[in-house]
Amino acid sequence: MPQATYHFPRGFLWGTATAAHQVEGNNTNNQWWKWEQEGHTKGTSGLACDWWGGRWREDFDRAAEGGQNAHRLSVEWSRIQPTPDTWDEDALERYRNMLRGLRERGLTPMVTLHHFSDPLWFFEMGSWELEDAVPLFEKFVRKTVEALKEYCTLWCTINEPNVYALSGYVSGAFPTKQRGIRIAMRVMANMLRGHAAAYRAIHQIQPEARVGYAHHHRPMVAKRSGFPLDALMRKIRYEGINMAFPSGISTGVMKTPVGKFLVPEAKGTQDYLGVNYYSVDTVSFHIGKPNELFTYSEFPADADLSDNGFIANIPTGIFDTIKWAVRTYPNLPIIITENGVEDADDHLRPRYIAQHIHQMWRAVNFNWPVKGYFHWSLVDNFEWERGWSQRFGLWGLDVETQKRTKRPSADLYAEICKENGLSSEMVLKYCPEVFDKLFPV
Ligand code: FCB
Repeated sequence: MPQATYHFPRGFLWGTATAAHQVEGNNTNNQWWKWEQEGHTKGTSGLACDWWGGRWREDFDRAAEGGQNAHRLSVEWSRIQPTPDTWDEDALERYRNMLRGLRERGLTPMVTLHHFSDPLWFFEMGSWELEDAVPLFEKFVRKTVEALKEYCTLWCTINEPNVYALSGYVSGAFPTKQRGIRIAMRVMANMLRGHAAAYRAIHQIQPEARVGYAHHHRPMVAKRSGFPLDALMRKIRYEGINMAFPSGISTGVMKTPVGKFLVPEAKGTQDYLGVNYYSVDTVSFHIGKPNELFTYSEFPADADLSDNGFIANIPTGIFDTIKWAVRTYPNLPIIITENGVEDADDHLRPRYIAQHIHQMWRAVNFNWPVKGYFHWSLVDNFEWERGWSQRFGLWGLDVETQKRTKRPSADLYAEICKENGLSSEMVLKYCPEVFDKLFPV
């Protein structure tokens, strides 16, 4: 059989993504730690992957040996600024070591400045509910970028403002003190202001920086065709989740289902768009969901579901996500900042990876400017309110012993990274069940 390969452009970034609170361990000074101690999560983060204890070294070795040429990580605000008036220079030095560690292994660092965790002092004062958050975030960003600029030029200001706001203030899964859709949108507007301030601050400090944010995009379909309420609910949900923050960046006016927020300073504040894609939602009208504006989302009955039913393997969704990005921001570079699936025994992940990378290849061959892909994640880590019940790693983690175990997907991903492409042989070897889909005869 002739060998075929879906190749990617030279210089394509291949990496994995992680977040400080999920991997470092002992992040006792943020709102998530408190939330965990109060019993809102499945287990507690504890030592996590013990990166703060130094195990980042062995995990970066794994990434480098696996052919990756980039890594996305985040810094923990509560470590760098433990109180409003103090900076922890040792913490900054550790991050400098980590970034140097990436460079030494040939991995380009991408640093996220805010990934869901807030210092406790910031949380107690109302966090992003108040506009006061904006100068505080900017101050932290300035200090951190000054300290890390020698090793990093690719910055992600805020991870998934839509998920932070909605999972907290609407669904109640993330730590917040208040609930409600209006406050959720105000939080998102303040995050947009914070992003804009960070964008300018970073460029002032480092003119050559590339600055963006990571947007969680959910393609959506209405459940019952011919049932106008489902179409309407899809529209409301789509606008709240997918369009609010991006509209603020395109126009300076953040449009939400509960009104507009004027943030003129946000217009044009991105050098690339980071998109996190996981799955596609099927949306319908639900009388029992007044807090979610009567919208309900689920997966199709016959979907290829992950362990906890958290993700449906719908690879065309990544193509649609990239198409959405290109239409929303013509000519702007796109980076897939997260994509992955929870799958402890790795029965689904190999085909999830191969099929998504194949769809990303289709997009690249439309000449759409996709510049990199970061798989979520390198090693199992603490999945927020879902705790240790979800295993997203290319490598498995025994939380008690800290032992890592390689999953077959780690080998598949390594072959992809080293080849800068996906070949028919890889598909035959790791996920023959989708061979005919990826290489139809
Ligand atoms: C994303 C988060 C990331 C991780 C994945 C599974 O929404 O950004 O931290 O939890 O989901």
